[in-house]
Amino acid sequence: MRILVTGSSGLIGSEAALYFDAQGHEVFGVDNNMRRVFFGPAGDTLWNLERLKAATERFRHAAIDIRDRAAIEELFATERFELIVHCAAQPSHDKARDIPVLDFEVNALGTLNLLEATRQHSPEAVFVFMSTNKVYGDAPNEIPLRELETRYDYARTEDFAGVDETCRIDRTMHSLFGASKAAADLMAQEYGRYFSMNIGVFRGGCLTGPLHSGVELHGFLSYLVKVALNGGRYTVFGYKGKQVRDNIHSYDVVRAIEEFAANPRPGEVYNLGGGRQNSISVLEAITRSQELSGRKLHWAYNDQARKGDHICYISDTSKFRRHYPRWEITRSLDAILEEIVASSRIQAVNSVAR
Ligand SMILES: NC(=O)c1ccc[n+]([C@@H]2O[C@H](COP(=O)([O-])OP(=O)(O)OC[C@H]3O[C@@H](n4cnc5c(N)ncnc54)[C@H](O)[C@@H]3O)[C@@H](O)[C@H]2O)c1
Repeated sequence: MRILVTGSSGLIGSEAALYFDAQGHEVFGVDNNMRRVFFGPAGDTLWNLERLKAATERFRHAAIDIRDRAAIEELFATERFELIVHCAAQPSHDKARDIPVLDFEVNALGTLNLLEATRQHSPEAVFVFMSTNKVYGDAPNEIPLRELETRYDYARTEDFAGVDETCRIDRTMHSLFGASKAAADLMAQEYGRYFSMNIGVFRGGCLTGPLHSGVELHGFLSYLVKVALNGGRYTVFGYKGKQVRDNIHSYDVVRAIEEFAANPRPGEVYNLGGGRQNSISVLEAITRSQELSGRKLHWAYNDQARKGDHICYISDTSKFRRHYPRWEITRSLDAILEEIVASSRIQAVNSVAR
C-alpha cells in the first residue's frame, strides 16, 4: 500500500510509519515540526525524524504544513494514497487558549484540507482521523464518582467499563482544543457518511509511549518520567492528584488503525484507550514512576484544576473490540512505563553527548 502519515515525527505518526514500513508498505510522512512551535525546544521532534529515517527502508518525508491547501492538493495529485493516517495536530488542551486561531487552523482546517484532497484524488482510500476524548468536553465528569485513597473511580458498577461513544459532545466545556478537534471529528464523520468514504474516527484517551516528545502541556507519562529522570518540578493541577487517565501504547493504537484499514466502516467513531486495566491516577503515576526509575520526583500541588479537565476518564473500547475482535491491548501500564524510562535515559545520555 501507499500510505500517507501526517504528523509522522510525532508519537502516533512515527509509530505508524515504522510499523507500516516494516511490513513493506510505502510510507510518505508529512510533518513540519510544528510541535516545536507549540511547545518550544522540548517539543522538537527532529530527533524522532532522524530515528525514523535510520530505522526505515522506504520512508519518505516532506515538511509540508497541513494548513497549506495548495501543497496538500499537489501532494495528493502526485501520489495516489490508499491509506491516510492523520495524526498531525495541535494536541494540547491547555495550549489552545494562547493560540486559538492557530489551533483551529491546524486541527479543523488542516483536517478539512486532507479530507477534501482525499475525496478529490483518492476517494476509495481509507482515512483514519486521530480524534480525542476531549470532544466529550467535561460531560464525563457528570458520572457519579467515589473517592478512594489514591484515585477517583466510578461509583456505579454500570459505569465501570468507562465512557462509550454515546456520551454527548455538545453543551459541555471542551477547552478550545476539544472544540477544534470536535469540528474536525464531525467533519471526518460527515465525509464518511455523506460521501460514503472509508473514514474512521478514533477518540483517544491518553496515547503514550517512548516516541513522545513529552512536554508539560502534552504527554502525561512521558513528561512525568522526564522530570523524574532529569530533575525539575512536576506540577499537579487540582483534584488532589486523584484524577484518572487510561493509557494506551502507540503500538496498540497503530494496530487498531491497521484493523480498521483492513475492514473499514465508513464514518464510524470509536473510543480508543488502554481501558481500566491501564488506568492510573496522577498520584499513582508519581509513585510508580519513582519506583521504576529509582529517582525521586519533585512535585508541587496547584489546587486550580485545569479547565474542562476530566476527573476520571476510562475509555470503553467494547465497540471497537466488537467490530474488530482480533485487536487487543498488548502493553500493560508497567511495560509502557518501563519503556518510557529506558528511552528517556538514552535520550538524556545522547543530549549530554551532543
Ligand atoms: N497523545 C495523546 O495523549 C493524545 C490523546 C488523544 C488524541 N490524540 C491525538 O492523536 C494525534 C497524534 O497525537 P500525538 O500524541 O502523536 O501528537 P504529537 O504532537 O506527538 O504529533 C503530532 C505531530 O504533528 C506535527 N504537526 C503539527 N502541526 C502540523 C502541521 N500544521 N503540519 C504538519 N505537521 C504538523 C507535529 O510537529 C508533531 O510531530 C493528534 O491528533 C492528537 O490530537 C493524542
